[in-house]
Amino acid sequence: MCDERGAAIEPVAVVSNERVADDVGRVVFDAPRTAASIAPGQFVHLRIARGADFILRRPFSVHRAYDGRLEILYQVVGRGTKVLAEAIPGDVMDVIGPLGAGWSVPGDATRALVVAGGLGAAPMGMLVEELAAREVDVTFALGAPSAGRLVARQLFESLCRRTLVATDDGSAGTCGFVTVLTPEALERERPDVVYVCGPEPMQRIVAAQCAEAGVACQVSLERLMACGVGACLSCVVATSDGLKRACVDGPVFDAATIAWEPSGDAEVAG
Ligand SMILES: Cc1cc2nc3c(=O)[nH]c(=O)nc-3n(C[C@H](O)[C@H](O)[C@H](O)COP(=O)(O)OP(=O)(O)OC[C@H]3O[C@@H](n4cnc5c(N)ncnc54)[C@H](O)[C@@H]3O)c2cc1C
Ligand code: FES
Repeated sequence: MCDERGAAIEPVAVVSNERVADDVGRVVFDAPRTAASIAPGQFVHLRIARGADFILRRPFSVHRAYDGRLEILYQVVGRGTKVLAEAIPGDVMDVIGPLGAGWSVPGDATRALVVAGGLGAAPMGMLVEELAAREVDVTFALGAPSAGRLVARQLFESLCRRTLVATDDGSAGTCGFVTVLTPEALERERPDVVYVCGPEPMQRIVAAQCAEAGVACQVSLERLMACGVGACLSCVVATSDGLKRACVDGPVFDAATIAWEPSGDAEVAG
C-alpha cells in the first residue's frame, strides 16, 4: 500500500538493539524500501510488536539510513518504548514511511548551525550527513541533562567542523542548557541556516535568537500522532498560516511561522 507521496507499510526486522546512553537505545531495522526513500528529518510510524498489542503506532525520526537499514534512537518513556527496548534481532515489526516534511537545505548555504537537546539529536544524523556531502560547514551545539545522556556525539564530531557541548549539570562541556551556546555560535559562525530539535521551550528560545540575528531557522516539532498520515488532526500546530498537521505539513517547520506557546526557561531540559 502506497500513498501519493511514496509512503508505504514495510515489514522490518530488528538487526540490532543496544543501549547507547542512559535511557536511550539504538535499534537498527532491515528496511530496504524505506531506507532507500527516506529524506533527512522525515519519520516513520512504527508498529511495536513483541508480545504486546499496541493499537497506536509510535512516531520515530530516522537517525540514519544506509545499506537498506534504518537506525532509530529511542528514549524509554512509556509502555511502547519499554517493549521496544526489549526487542531482539529477528523480531519483526512494521513501519509506515517515509512520512512528513523533513529539513530543507538551501542550495546556496555554505554554513549551518545545528542545535539539538536530548533526543533532539535523533533527526540530526541524516541531516549532518547530507550537509557534509554538500560540503556545508557545520557547527553542532549538542545539549543534554548530563554527560551520560549525550546522544550521537561521536557521529556529530566526525562530520561537523565544531561540536559544542552543554550539560545541565556541567558533567560535560559548558554548564547549562544548550541555549547558552547558541548566541555566541550565531555571532561567531554567521550561519546561513539553523536547524533545531529538542524540547519545545528550547526550540522557542533558539527560534527567537535566530529571529533577532536575522537567520533562517527550521524546527522539528513533536506532537501526539494517532494516524501519522493527516487524517485524525491529533497533531495540529498553530502557525501564522493557520493550523497545520505536524505529520504531513511538518514535523519540520519554518520557525518564523510558529505561534509558540509561552513557557518559562526553567522547563528547558534535554
Ligand atoms: C515526528 C516525531 C518524531 C519522534 N522521534 C522520536 C525519536 O526519534 N526518538 C524518540 O525516542 N522519540 C521520538 N518521538 C517521541 C515518541 O514518539 C514517543 O516518545 C513515543 O511515542 C512514546 O511511546 P511510549 O509507548 O513509550 O509512551 P507512552 O507510555 O504512550 O507515553 C509516554 C509519553 O510519550 C508521549 N507519546 C505517546 N504516544 C505518542 C505519539 N504517538 N506521538 C508523540 N508522543 C507520544 C506521550 O505524550 C507521553 O508523554 C517522536 C515523536 C514525533 C511526533
Ligand atoms: S497524526 Fe493524524 S493528522 Fe497528524
